[in-house]
Amino acid sequence: MTQSNQSHYIQFEQTNKSEEDSSQFHFKSDVLTGLSQKRKSIPCKYLYDQRGSQLFDEICRTPEYYPTRTEIALLKEHAEEIASLMGLGAHLIEFGSGSSIKVRILLDAATKLESYIPVDISRHHLMQAASNIAKDYPKLKVWPITTDFTQPFQLPNNARDGCNVGFFPGSTIGNFTSDEAKAFLVNSAKIVQPGGSMIIGVDLKKDHKILNAAYNDKKGVTSSFSLNLLRRINREIGGNFDAKRFRHEALYNAKMGRMEIFLVSLDQQSVRVNGHTFNFKSGERIHTENSHKYEIGEFQNIARASGFSPLKVWVDHKSLFSIHYLRA
Ligand code: AVI
Repeated sequence: MTQSNQSHYIQFEQTNKSEEDSSQFHFKSDVLTGLSQKRKSIPCKYLYDQRGSQLFDEICRTPEYYPTRTEIALLKEHAEEIASLMGLGAHLIEFGSGSSIKVRILLDAATKLESYIPVDISRHHLMQAASNIAKDYPKLKVWPITTDFTQPFQLPNNARDGCNVGFFPGSTIGNFTSDEAKAFLVNSAKIVQPGGSMIIGVDLKKDHKILNAAYNDKKGVTSSFSLNLLRRINREIGGNFDAKRFRHEALYNAKMGRMEIFLVSLDQQSVRVNGHTFNFKSGERIHTENSHKYEIGEFQNIARASGFSPLKVWVDHKSLFSIHYLRA
């Protein structure tokens, strides 16, 4: 329990230190493995270093990127109903809580919550956000947990008996393959336990023009976000990528129902990373991200196959985005 400079309302801190320590090792091995494949790829979780997270926040403010503002509007519009479904004395567990912004809409409406349990891999960010929440919601118990939320983890003892409600906004579930999404839901069903619930933001299938614009904003913020990955590799694991010799590409793949995002080599070139040479043909791509879009029924079927019953879904009037309330 770290208490010294944290608000005393932070009741408990659970840290999986080994995961934090090994993340740098994983970054290097995942990049080297990914660049050695015939179809080069790097897992999207590495887009979020400090600069990447800032750029992502900026993406959320671009006029083209509708998911954030649509989800926030939906949460605000239905906060009372969501709070009443959560019930009294619930423990609200946020998966990948980041700066804990959207959850404030629920915390404002659900005044009878027992605790807020933000879960994130980035300890510094997590503790900062937890401390701010504890200050702003003095009656709420705040129990931050530093861990990889896609893996099993233990809730604090007091949280196990009540009604646990998971919160996973932002359509981050869309960045998983459908098998990963199922695995995440199966894991979260175990964490919230039978009778518990999940509130999940899910981006919907729609006109491809809207999708392509959202991932190719005019200001070029999404492009900077993608290219930042190359700068991170240079800085953290000794690479010599010249980001100016790559471009961002984001295209909707209708067959797969997802946006696919790549970094495309502008010419034939060789790049050194951590003592290894990787050759690129002109036009060769590094796959960096998928962002799956779902029909409502499609997502509900995945939820059912993972141990949840869909209870309620809220959709905006343009059918851009959905928020699902699922019971485990
Ligand atoms: C975090 N995630 C839900 C975003 C998305 O829409 O898939 C990541 C993103 N990548 C480029 N723009 C937004």
